[in-house]
Parts: sequence; C-alpha cells; structure tokens
Amino acid sequence: MKVIRVKDYQELGKKAAAIIIEHVKAKPDAVLGLATGSTPQTTYRELIRDHKENGTSYRQVTTVNLDEYIGLSPEDPNSYHYFMKKELFEAIDIASENTHLPNGEAADLEAECRRYDDLIRSVGGIDLQLLGIGRNGHIGFNEPGTSFQTRTHVVELAEDTRKANARFFPSLDAVPTSAITMGIQNILESKRILLLASGPAKAEAMARLLNQREITEAFPASCLHLHDDVTVIADEAALSLVD
Ligand code: F6R
Repeated sequence: MKVIRVKDYQELGKKAAAIIIEHVKAKPDAVLGLATGSTPQTTYRELIRDHKENGTSYRQVTTVNLDEYIGLSPEDPNSYHYFMKKELFEAIDIASENTHLPNGEAADLEAECRRYDDLIRSVGGIDLQLLGIGRNGHIGFNEPGTSFQTRTHVVELAEDTRKANARFFPSLDAVPTSAITMGIQNILESKRILLLASGPAKAEAMARLLNQREITEAFPASCLHLHDDVTVIADEAALSLVD
C-alpha cells in the first residue's frame, strides 16, 4: 500500500485527478469505478477543469459506481445517480450509456445485484477503483462485519453512516435505511485502487488502517491490505494520527 500525503482537500483533488487522467490517457477505454460523497468532489472538479482546458476525453470510458440508495429515483437530488450526473458526467464527454450505477428502484433487488455483478464482468472488470472511507472504515456501503467474499448486495445502513450522510438530506429521517453496494470482493478484483481521505473526521479510520494494519471484517477498509496495487491519497488532517 503506497501512501501519498497531500496538504489539504484541494491538493487531494489535484493529485487524485492527475492519476486518473494519466490512466485514461494510457487506456482511453478504461473502466473506472467511481464513488460519491464529499471526498471525491475536488477530484471530479479537477477532472472537469482538465477536460475543458486540455481536452482529455472520456468518450470511450466506462464507469461503474459503488453504490446507490434503495428507494430513490435517479432524478431525486439525493440519489447517487443525480450526484454523479451533476458532479461529473454532464460536464465531460462521457456517453451516458457507458455510466452505470445500481438501480435502487429495482422491483427485484436480488436480481439487480446479480445484474450489476454481470455488468462489471461484461465490461472486463474495473481498471481503477476510486474509494472514500467511512469513519467506521466502510468502503462503498460495506459496513463493519461484511464478509470479504461479498459481491453486489443489499445493505442496511449503519446508524453512524446515516447520521454522517444526513447533511445531504432535509432530516435524518429522510436518509434511506438501505442501499445496494458493490461488495468487498468486487472492489478487491479491481486492478488498481485509489483510496482518498480528507479531514480530521477520517483521522481515526486512517490510523486504524495504516498503524494497526490488522486485517479484519470488523474494519472493512482493512481488506485493502490484501490487494497489491492500492494507493492511498490523504491530507494532513486525515493523517494526523498516523505514526
Ligand atoms: C460513496 C461511498 C462511501 C463514501 C464514504 C465517505 O459512494 O461509497 O463509502 O466514500 O461514506 O463519504 P464522504 O466522502 O462523504 O466522507
């Protein structure tokens, strides 16, 4: 696991975007695994800036997102479909049919999970997976206790996660209680993984990941120690408790 230390959230975005851009230039038809939440927002802004200024093209790129809330339509401003459209997709030249997220409105959620696994397989697997980290160590919505063998599945969201995400919703009650997420196994099958962390709220999780290094399902991000191509990019605040 390689750790790149950056000064702050802005620099985090620049560094992460530079790695993604380099990847897309080397492999124009790359499959990118994407995340939502606050952490990748500066990265997406940098990708957009570079696309506009330097013309990096995403015409042949395919994206697969980690997760989506159950019960929210793609038009719901709190859905991850909507987030991705606004934060990235509509500002670059990616074809909308090449962008994929789980369908949180599927009538048969189990069938939807299998469809998503098949989709990831059919596009040839994920070349570069971008991850944020939850304060409890979750990646995607794989909460503590999730088996490392899981593929795409339905999860009940941990109370801590719902509270952390309530800032995007009118009230805590409005935060969905469940989601569809790629599993740990899907994530570990990605060829390369980029984990981003910013701010003091992530300091304890980063210390557990980088100091303790214990591999345990009680701390989902620890599965990343099992992968041989992980780059962590974190700012000083997120690394403040790391030895
Ligand atoms: C989002 C996701 C989550 C977030 C994590 C951190 O698609 O998979 O695991 O990466 O909850 O969220 P932020 O970045 O908002 O702190």
